[in-house]
Amino acid sequence: MIETEKILKGFTTAEARWARFGPYYAMFPLEFAFDVVERFSKKGDYILDPFAGRCSSIYAGGVLGRNSLGIEINPVGWLYGKVKLKPADKEEVIDRLLEIYGRRNYYIRAFEQMPEFFRMCYCDEVLKFLLSARASLDWKNNNVDATLSSIILIYLHAKLGEGLSNQMRMTKSMGMNYSVKWWKKNKMNTPPEINPCEFIINKINWRYDKGKPSITESAVVFGDSANELKTISERAINNDIKFSLLFTSPPYCSITDYHADQWLRLWLLGGEANANSLKEKHKGRFINKLEYYDLLDNVFGLCSKMMKAKSTIYVRTDKREFTFKSTYDILQRHFPKHSVEIIEKPLTKDTKTQTKLFGDKSMKPGEVDIILNRQ
Ligand SMILES: C[S@@+](CC[C@H](N)C(=O)[O-])C[C@H]1O[C@@H](n2cnc3c(N)ncnc32)[C@H](O)[C@@H]1O
Repeated sequence: MIETEKILKGFTTAEARWARFGPYYAMFPLEFAFDVVERFSKKGDYILDPFAGRCSSIYAGGVLGRNSLGIEINPVGWLYGKVKLKPADKEEVIDRLLEIYGRRNYYIRAFEQMPEFFRMCYCDEVLKFLLSARASLDWKNNNVDATLSSIILIYLHAKLGEGLSNQMRMTKSMGMNYSVKWWKKNKMNTPPEINPCEFIINKINWRYDKGKPSITESAVVFGDSANELKTISERAINNDIKFSLLFTSPPYCSITDYHADQWLRLWLLGGEANANSLKEKHKGRFINKLEYYDLLDNVFGLCSKMMKAKSTIYVRTDKREFTFKSTYDILQRHFPKHSVEIIEKPLTKDTKTQTKLFGDKSMKPGEVDIILNRQ
């Protein structure tokens, strides 16, 4: 905990600045992520998170000298994680920004056809810039483009004055119709006038002001854990690598649709301009209980093959009955020799959760930590 406090205090180190990179729904509080890593592993250990989100667990591991590996199916979370572990050089990111901005007027036809939502959300300069970025950035394969994309993603929507958009929540993209009606009702029909190039350069300068974080070799894989873990576990076994800490928070059954809730950011990455739920496996709200159970069973089963006999499994999940009971049963079955501790986290009206801090008034009914240990 002492090391955690030193590292995260204020924004005085590169590690603290990049730790906060990327607003995401249901993210771990940072102090919690660092604390779990510090308490349940030591330097040189391997850490695994199969539902990594914006990768705070993996980042904390890397900063604290552990080799860490995450997997994330949502491009937004994956990009935040990949970039904060290894941001590209600042000068290259700025050069690429200038290039993309310089080409904004090539997209005039696309710009003129954009639905009302986009014209009310962004001023003309910003929207043309975003269209240029959307058409050009190779965020999957090129680290400079990944870094620039993720910086734009962070500020794509936020409270008025804090991002590139008209008034919006930061962690969750609101629906098109809902937003248009809301802006009209609140007489906010006109988006803020912003020079996107100057705006993003200021953000880049701030983020890199203390340098880049120093990270022990760590990575985050883009994909579905239920598939990716098959090859990852084979490779780990072939290389004699065993993990000491499995630290994760799976999606909660029927609660959040990580793709629909990030539709605007996914649009910037090339997705459709709508908030519809994707029809692909593990990319919806996890409404089907059997599929949900199978996912957790599959993933924790594959993870169990990669863990040391003496290891810790730290899972934060939803207190609601189906999610909690399924997770608890599955974990006990795959780690039968571990002892189990349950820590309930009842939320009071005054508890400040990450989601509340970013403007979501809906209360989460509460979370629970399931900790399995064998030492
Ligand atoms: C509760 S969130 C994790 C939040 C994370 N602890 C953080 O601090 O940002 C669960 C994550 O699991 C991801 N996910 C869901 N199904 C997945 C799958 N099959 N493979 C990999 N990731 C998955 C979701 O996209 C979501 O980001």
